[in-house]
Amino acid sequence: MLTGAGVSAESGLATFRDSQDGLWTDYRPEDLATPEAFARDPKMVWRWYEWRRRKLRGATPNPGHIALAELERLLPGYTLITQNVDGLHQRAGSRNVIEFHGNITRTVCSNKPCPGQWQADDEREPPVCRDCGHQLRPDVVWFGEAIPFQAMQGALDALRECDLFISIGTSSLVYPAAGMAAEVAARGATVAEINPEATPLSSSADLLLAGRSGEVLPAVLATLTALPD
Ligand code: OAD
Repeated sequence: MLTGAGVSAESGLATFRDSQDGLWTDYRPEDLATPEAFARDPKMVWRWYEWRRRKLRGATPNPGHIALAELERLLPGYTLITQNVDGLHQRAGSRNVIEFHGNITRTVCSNKPCPGQWQADDEREPPVCRDCGHQLRPDVVWFGEAIPFQAMQGALDALRECDLFISIGTSSLVYPAAGMAAEVAARGATVAEINPEATPLSSSADLLLAGRSGEVLPAVLATLTALPD
C-alpha cells in the first residue's frame, strides 16, 4: 500500500496541494517545505509546522485509516508506505508503517546526524539544540532532500516482494514514491488506485476505485471479510 494526503483529507487535514488557509493562504507548501526556506527564514518555516501540528492535534484517524489497520491484520506480507507526515496511520493501529517523508510530530537537530536535544522551556522559534547549538527542525523530508535510508530500504524490500500494489489518496506527482507503481508493474504485480480524481497513474493502473478512501477502504475490508475462509 502507498498512501498520500488524500487518506487524511477526511480527517480534516488539507491535502498537500489543497490551498492553505488562515495566515498561510498566500504561501505554497512547496515554497515552505525546503532547506532553502528554512535557511532563509527559519522562524517562518518553524511557525508553519507549529500551525500544522496544532491542526493535527484536532484530527483523528478516519474510517480509511482504520480499515487499513484492519487490513494489515488480515493480509500476510502487508506493508504500508506512507508519504503522510501526520502519524494518523499509527494512531489508527497500523503497525508496519514506513514513513517515507518523515513525521512532523518529531523534532530533530538540523545538524544531522546530531540526534538533537530540545530544552522544553526553549521558547525560541525554532528552538536550539542543547547538544550542539544548531537549530532544531521537523523530522520531515523537504524538497530536494534524500528519503531517509531506512525508509528507502524498507520500501525497496517491500516492493521487491510485491504482487499487489494499491496507491491510495496520492496525486502520484512526487518521486521516488510516484515511481513505485511502475516499478512493481514491470515485475508483473497488479496495480490498483483509490482516488476520487484521475492521476498520472490512472491510465496504467489495472484497477481504478474512484472514490474517497474513507468510503472505499471500509467497503474493500467488508468484501474481504465476507469471503469464505
Ligand atoms: P497531494 O495533495 O499532491 O494529492 C492528494 C491526492 O489525494 C489527490 O490526488 C486527491 O485527488 C486525492 N484525494 C483527495 N481527497 C481524497 C479522499 N478523500 N480519498 C482519496 N483520495 C483523495 O498529496 P500527496 O500525493 O500526498 O512530499 O503529495 C505527495 C507529496 O508531495 C507529499 O508527501 C509532499 C509533497 O511534495 C514532501 O513534502 C516531500
